[in-house]
Amino acid sequence: MCGIVGVTGVGDALPYLLQGLQKLEYRGYDSAGVFLTDASGKNELIKEKGRVSKLAEKAEAYGFNGTAGIAHTRWATHGNVTVENAHPQKSANNRFFLVHNGVIENYKELKDTYLSNVDFVSETDTEVAVQLVNHFAEEGMATVDAFRKMISMLEGNSAYGFLLVDENDPETLYVAKKKSPLLIGVSDHGYAVTSDAAAMIDLTKDFVELRDGDVAIVKPDSLTIFDENGDDIVREPFTLEIDPEDTDKGAYPYYMLKEVDEQAVVARNIAGHYYDEDGNLQGIGCAITDKMKEADRLYIVAAGTSYHAGLVGKRYFEQWAKIPTEVHISSEFAYDQPMLSEKPFFIFLSQSGETADSREVLDNVKKQGYPALTLANVMNSTLTREADFALPLLAGPEIAVASTKAYTAQVIVQAILASSLGNPGFDLKAELAKVAVEIQAITDDKEKFKAIAEDALADQHSAFYIGRGLDAAVALEAALKLKEISYIQTEGFAAGELKHGTISLIEDKTPVFALLTQKKTAGLLRGEVAQVAARGAKTIVFASKGVAKEGDAFVLPEVNELLMPLLAVIPTQLVAYYATLARGLDVDRPRNLAKSVTVQ
Ligand code: F6R
Repeated sequence: MCGIVGVTGVGDALPYLLQGLQKLEYRGYDSAGVFLTDASGKNELIKEKGRVSKLAEKAEAYGFNGTAGIAHTRWATHGNVTVENAHPQKSANNRFFLVHNGVIENYKELKDTYLSNVDFVSETDTEVAVQLVNHFAEEGMATVDAFRKMISMLEGNSAYGFLLVDENDPETLYVAKKKSPLLIGVSDHGYAVTSDAAAMIDLTKDFVELRDGDVAIVKPDSLTIFDENGDDIVREPFTLEIDPEDTDKGAYPYYMLKEVDEQAVVARNIAGHYYDEDGNLQGIGCAITDKMKEADRLYIVAAGTSYHAGLVGKRYFEQWAKIPTEVHISSEFAYDQPMLSEKPFFIFLSQSGETADSREVLDNVKKQGYPALTLANVMNSTLTREADFALPLLAGPEIAVASTKAYTAQVIVQAILASSLGNPGFDLKAELAKVAVEIQAITDDKEKFKAIAEDALADQHSAFYIGRGLDAAVALEAALKLKEISYIQTEGFAAGELKHGTISLIEDKTPVFALLTQKKTAGLLRGEVAQVAARGAKTIVFASKGVAKEGDAFVLPEVNELLMPLLAVIPTQLVAYYATLARGLDVDRPRNLAKSVTVQ
């Protein structure tokens, strides 16, 4: 989704801005732009549709690096993908330049009321914002006041991360945020502003987090932050614990493959964090477990892959902790809250910690006074900051749009959390060590999944994943993975439901992948595989050792049955990867998608 970077006081601005944009590419975008300026007021605005590399080529050709600048990757919301609609947007008199993440709900009303005599060049809400700043500046307001005035007029569910330059004071950046993340990077020489710390780690690892309602003025040698009451405040920077190499692909052709391979290490890292050397749980804290034990029902709220991880986690909370658990899609829960129990406890699952739909639910839940815990991969994100409690997923930076290792981390951390509330009846720590070994064994067997994907999916337009129980939950995730990157329309299905309608979609050679790891239902699932095979489907079975049969496409090693989702998901990730590769598509950056979905 949209990304922002800006710098001042760092010397040549362009290289930092371009590098920042390149690091933001993984989030998904369809156009990009950069505005460069220096103390003399010389400036350059360059925008391009498509890849950042195209923008970089054009920007470098001008030979002007600037000493301050702002840049943006845009994921279209208001208006088509055009150069005109790309950011930065500017005021008609070329005085103000603005980049914006988020959505301004009442932009049409603002345009009609205040700007009816202004010529607009784009269809964006952002141009309305920048023209409005200019409108108030022309009425005699100082820039910061005009900026604040514009912000005060944004209504409803409007969300923003703004970064503004005034050509009358070109090296100063005006910053504001609400519901859309923005951080200020602090270095020995100058400042950066960014929506994603990873974009600026080549400049600094020290960041000051802006909160909703903050306005900041960033000059080459000073930073001033005003909180929502307008008070001048000091916020201490935090140091990002990230190795720049973690965000590189190294020798891998795609981030997704690197991240699939990292899952064994992720499993070990999580165990290393949540268990001490004697195998005792650590790092969760009684404040969390006491509150959870008081609850009469857990509500897991998440989107996409994280929602699928929640479906698996439900089993651990119910079976081990004995607490009834519901799993909800955040975009639904936000506007149609179901009837709640008397003492609910909320668990938000999120890789990014910034998903707007989940943030909306957290906002609502907090207003109702219910306790909430966020499990997120990006700590210091909105969802971790705003919940009562937060626990890290420790998957390391996940760059590919298709989530893999964050899913695994979510399942594992939920299992550990549930085991802190009730006894799983086996040594979870030892079993997780086994899981790590077996994940490694499956990822070492990549070539098998490459062959399966090329054979079953190269020319297909549709496919199915089926399973029962926990395998049905994994089937949903497997289907999402395959469809989102290969564009093969794939349905994940509880196998028993097929005969109630969907089986009519099975045609000659339709690929049906069956996940078979749960003993209780293995026989039934075999029957369902036979039913689709009898109707012409090409069946591909991934079965665990205890229930495998001759002819199965892959035999999964066995760990405790409740942890089998951690193994069963790996082949499905690799199948999705290789099917996408076979179709000549960009694995890491599927069309229309964004890594961090910050709009509702
Ligand atoms: C799919 C995927 C998405 C995310 C979803 C929620 O591969 O990555 O479905 O899981 O957008 O995002 P987070 O987990 O950041 O809240």
